[in-house]
Amino acid sequence: PLLTWLLVLAAYLIGSLSGSLLLGRGRGVDIRTLGSGNAGGTNALRTQGWRFALGVVLVDVGKGALATWLALRFAPVGSALTVTAHGYLAAFAAIVGHVWPVWHGFRGGKGAATLVGALAVLWPLAVALMVLAWLATVLASGYVGLATVVAALVLPVLAWIFDAELPRMAFACAVAVLLAWTHRGNLARLRDGTESRFARARLLHR
Ligand code: G3P
Repeated sequence: PLLTWLLVLAAYLIGSLSGSLLLGRGRGVDIRTLGSGNAGGTNALRTQGWRFALGVVLVDVGKGALATWLALRFAPVGSALTVTAHGYLAAFAAIVGHVWPVWHGFRGGKGAATLVGALAVLWPLAVALMVLAWLATVLASGYVGLATVVAALVLPVLAWIFDAELPRMAFACAVAVLLAWTHRGNLARLRDGTESRFARARLLHR
């Protein structure tokens, strides 16, 4: 029904509010011209420092949570789609908005923080387990992009193990594919040995 589409559209528009690009306007920088060129928290940390990066991550996680919460709150009852399915649809729309933001010339980030916010509302346990996989990979390798891809690939495995319920499984697979794709540049740089590394994060290699 119409309300379902409105909630998905709202989620896309909210997801299109890029933390790094909006906060960057305040200091006159577009981080798409710096570092990895990505409009996300990692590149914010790399090029602007941790305070700015923290703000970026809070906005990007927050918008994922907000878009998803709105869908759960206002999902029409008695529609063919369950309330949970509305939540997962909105979550995906918010991530798509972050990657292709209508407010920023359709050039956004890679979707990780938005995913965390959305999933924190829908399935907090999965977020906790994904963050563990992400942290372990960062500490072992120093590569944030690699860690994000690993965490994204963990999601369908978790969905499969916990319950292969359709909306959750479809979301998990779609997110894994989308994030592997948004990180294709990182994966290519890893292959070439040119991916930027947070050497100080490699606690396991001291
Ligand atoms: O979510 C973005 C992160 O996984 C990689 O960022 O700037 O290293 O491409 P970046």
